[in-house]
Amino acid sequence: MTVIQTDSAPGQFRDRFRIPRGPGGKDALYLVGNSLGAQPEAAADAVNAQLERWASLGVVGHFDGPTPWLEFQRFGIDTLADMVGAKRHEVVVMNTLTINLHLMLTSFFRPQGPRRRIVMERGSFPTDRYAVVSQIQWHGLDPDRDLAELAPRRDRLLHEEDLEDYLERYGEQVALVLWPGVQYATGQVFDLARIGRACRKAGCVFGLDLAHAVGNLPLALHEIGADFAVWCSYKYLNSGPAAVAGCFVHERHRDFDGPRLAGWWGHDEHSRFRMGPDFKPMRGAEGWQLSEPPILTLAPLWTSLDLFAEAGGMDALRRQSLELTGHLAHRIQEQLSERIRILTPLEPHRRGCQLSLQVRAGREAGLKLFERLEARGVICDWREPDIIRAAPVPLYNTLDEVEILVDLIDKLL
Ligand SMILES: Cc1ncc(COP(=O)(O)O)c(C=O)c1O
Repeated sequence: MTVIQTDSAPGQFRDRFRIPRGPGGKDALYLVGNSLGAQPEAAADAVNAQLERWASLGVVGHFDGPTPWLEFQRFGIDTLADMVGAKRHEVVVMNTLTINLHLMLTSFFRPQGPRRRIVMERGSFPTDRYAVVSQIQWHGLDPDRDLAELAPRRDRLLHEEDLEDYLERYGEQVALVLWPGVQYATGQVFDLARIGRACRKAGCVFGLDLAHAVGNLPLALHEIGADFAVWCSYKYLNSGPAAVAGCFVHERHRDFDGPRLAGWWGHDEHSRFRMGPDFKPMRGAEGWQLSEPPILTLAPLWTSLDLFAEAGGMDALRRQSLELTGHLAHRIQEQLSERIRILTPLEPHRRGCQLSLQVRAGREAGLKLFERLEARGVICDWREPDIIRAAPVPLYNTLDEVEILVDLIDKLL
């Protein structure tokens, strides 16, 4: 028998999610998987199972049964490592994104002599800038001098060659580049392999904020040679508000012996419970763990990752995403282009799920459209000064929803 493998259609896993309700109790048009992913149907059972283990086993739950808490942070690590293109020991789940960013900057931002500058994008998500500025100050340096922010061009997009040019000219002064996988406001996707090459050539550390990239795009963190990457899991990974975040540290730093902020969960697991006074880090990314993992927010993450695996992994989902978001882009261009401008690059390789839309008539008209959509059960989001972000995600959004959105905008604008 020949088995013909076909790609599934976008939205095929919709009934495995709980889609929030809009006015009248019908499913909302939920287009904010880039902000807070929808709840997997199985998440409640996964959390309840752990609550039940706590109730029935108490402290013994750390060691007993099929999901002992001492090992819990590793259960879905293989799937997650696959999704980000990493080896198992390069990935860890812990804390939240901003904390992980600080942990990484503490270890990898080591200004020395003239090489002390951090380069990032202007208009980054604010937490990145706050973290970077505070780290620069922590070293007694001056952000006015030691932070370089690369500005977007007139098209509001960042251009890889501008970063390359910068590194070509000033690379010897750069200690670290922090870059997003996807720019949060415009939805622009970057050529991370190319940026990685430019960083290597300049001899600086390459760090990534992948909040908008993980679960959205296939990634190849090991191959592109990023030194570190951090991400959250409440967006495309559907793990729930403020759920536990992720972190990648490249294998070349497996036996890292530089500065790090240490905690007992990063200590060598074989001697952790001997309770000795001296810290001996685990090898690889796990050596940056501080505390015991938060079991109740990890349970939905592992459940959600099962769905990604069942859907065929990131390559299959990316194909569906290209179809889904491509259809939205096409329909907007076809029916609304005189009224709506798409800020996100239209070339498929430069965008992920999200499109950032600007109403040509200006900010007030844009805000009004956003509010009217909201009143009709369309959940997008608004980003100042004038952007409506809509992110159809292939696990639970459908091509029909794209049609409904375009027709509604046509009617309301
Ligand atoms: C690019 C980016 N970085 C960081 C964050 C938030 O960080 P945290 O999870 O620490 O609140 C967000 C939240 O939307 C984000 O979009």
